[in-house]
Amino acid sequence: MAESMKGLHRSCRCAEVTAQAVGQKLTLMGWVQKARDKGSIIFVDLRDRTGIMQVIFENGSVSDEDFKKAGTLRAEFVIAVTGVVEKRRGEANPNLATGDIELRAESMRILSEAEVPPFPIEENSRTKDEIRLKYRYLDLRRPDLQRNLMLKSRVMMLTRQFFAKEGFLEIETPMLGKTTPEGARDYLVPSRIHPGCFYGLPQSPQLYKQLLMCSGFDRYIQIARCFRDEDLRADRQPEFTQIDMELSFVDVDDVIDVNERFLAYLFKEVLGVTVSLPIPRITWQEAMDRFGSDKPDMRFGMELCDVSGLVKDCGFSVFTGALASGGTVRGINAKGQGGMPRKKIDKLVEFAKGYGAKGLAYIAITAEGEVKSSFGKFMTEDEMKALIAAMKGEPGDLLLFAADKKKLVWDVLGALRLEIAKDMGILDKNEFCFVWVTEFPLLEWSEEEGRFTAMHHPFTMLMEEDLSLLDTDPGAVRAKAYDIVLNGNEIGGGSVRIHQDDIQERMFKELGFTPEEAHKQFGFLLDAFTYGVPPHAGLAYGLDRLVMLMAGCDSIRDVIAFPKVKDASCLMTEAPTRADDKQLAELSLKIAEPEGAEE
Ligand code: AMO
Ligand code: AMP
Repeated sequence: MAESMKGLHRSCRCAEVTAQAVGQKLTLMGWVQKARDKGSIIFVDLRDRTGIMQVIFENGSVSDEDFKKAGTLRAEFVIAVTGVVEKRRGEANPNLATGDIELRAESMRILSEAEVPPFPIEENSRTKDEIRLKYRYLDLRRPDLQRNLMLKSRVMMLTRQFFAKEGFLEIETPMLGKTTPEGARDYLVPSRIHPGCFYGLPQSPQLYKQLLMCSGFDRYIQIARCFRDEDLRADRQPEFTQIDMELSFVDVDDVIDVNERFLAYLFKEVLGVTVSLPIPRITWQEAMDRFGSDKPDMRFGMELCDVSGLVKDCGFSVFTGALASGGTVRGINAKGQGGMPRKKIDKLVEFAKGYGAKGLAYIAITAEGEVKSSFGKFMTEDEMKALIAAMKGEPGDLLLFAADKKKLVWDVLGALRLEIAKDMGILDKNEFCFVWVTEFPLLEWSEEEGRFTAMHHPFTMLMEEDLSLLDTDPGAVRAKAYDIVLNGNEIGGGSVRIHQDDIQERMFKELGFTPEEAHKQFGFLLDAFTYGVPPHAGLAYGLDRLVMLMAGCDSIRDVIAFPKVKDASCLMTEAPTRADDKQLAELSLKIAEPEGAEE
């Protein structure tokens, strides 16, 4: 039977008690982790979000009634215990912060009884994800998830503190509004009062924060929820949080400066890690050429090497054919992997094919210097030697080559580089390698739409020196856009915005918007710009991704209290659910049943 709290006050949390408290009388409350009944003595591990305290119930120290009650305790009962802190009489437990003390119970109340949980509440338990997420409230009792959410809370607190000191104002922007184009699909909310009309949930506060600059708030920050209906992955949720900011009267360097100091402050305060400043910067072009990715993992080398010039006249038609049709031949050197068994190399070939490669050519050099290659028979000995030399191949190395269109070669080798590094176990989660990737292309050609689309968004400023290219070679125009990348993850991105209306007009034209269309979609922003707009720029971090990396996790699910699964549903609440007929009628909505759906 559950007892009340009447007259009781919790003294502190379990693991906040130290050896200095020996002799003090305390009241602790929490969940029973484990109860061991040894007859005349009962040991209970009491747990809360700080950790565990061992409580002992001994006949004589507690009343007979409380001793009896202690005998009924099972895992996850919620109890309050009053007792005296003592030095542990048994052996100290070095695994617990409170391992050298214990609480000798004098009285106890059972505040709540508990059913046997569907899985044990402990770190690293191997319970299936589906069960964990169905009972997320229990899953969240696990120490690792508790640590993650406490870390996230601290990151948010320090973020607010840092930016407040730098003169940023925290301003909220609407959830119910017009969506901001960020490239994903929108979540729509039907309006009851305006039948047939929908609010869009924000993909980011982009337009609003630019309006706030027009209004003169000059430095804005918000820890903002964003919504994007896109395919989910380990680093993507339909609903996530940004640390979003915008600054007036600034250029690229100003945004980078304040954010580098922020990252250094955050990593020092939270992890004790020194981020050496300035953070290196590489251009998008360099990132692609060297790492095959616009979010390069800089913890290791294995850089891409362009061998097109060297193989253009060789006898291997895969190489010469790709070059003849405007492609490229590039390779990576997986140092020390020359002894990789054939089966494993075949797996790498399949992996490359998963990224669209037609194949993957290799040269394996054994430790003894013997050369085995999938295309050796097509090359002369001299050609092979020159190729190995260009790749800095040494005994024990594995050289892998992709021949195709440049973008595909980048994708394939970029992914392969990461896959091999993972397999080699050289990626250290405690090493934090930041890099700014700058000068992104302004525009991206969309085969699907047959036109250019904005790589970042339509308000991104181009580099002044590329202005004239807008008419002649739009694909070559570079943007004043930058991403901050940590260990191969894009943790944030932003840009300088266009504040001159003539450039904005040209940009819309390039993107295929008629002036009317542009006005229909973004009229309020364009109008606002006619009343005096300061030059401005900004950036947004994916807070969940940042915290995931700080916590050493592999998925942002582990740093979100109630995440969604791959099909964007919540296993605990079962959202999304069907609306009932009354709700639909109020919203003037009718559901068109998907074809083949059963009644
Ligand atoms: P962007 O679209 O690059 O820029 O988003 C900024 C950062 O948000 C994170 N992010 C996500 N995190 C989890 N789940 C998702 N589905 C998801 N999508 C994005 C990433 C990304 O770097 N308004 C601009 C910023 C600006 O220009 O100021 C924007 O939203 O870490
Ligand atoms: P094939 O002549 O098709 O048997 O190919 C010989 C070798 O070249 C095999 O190892 C293939 O995996 C590899 N290969 C085929 N196409 C490509 C390509 N586009 N880029 C790199 N290697 C390739």
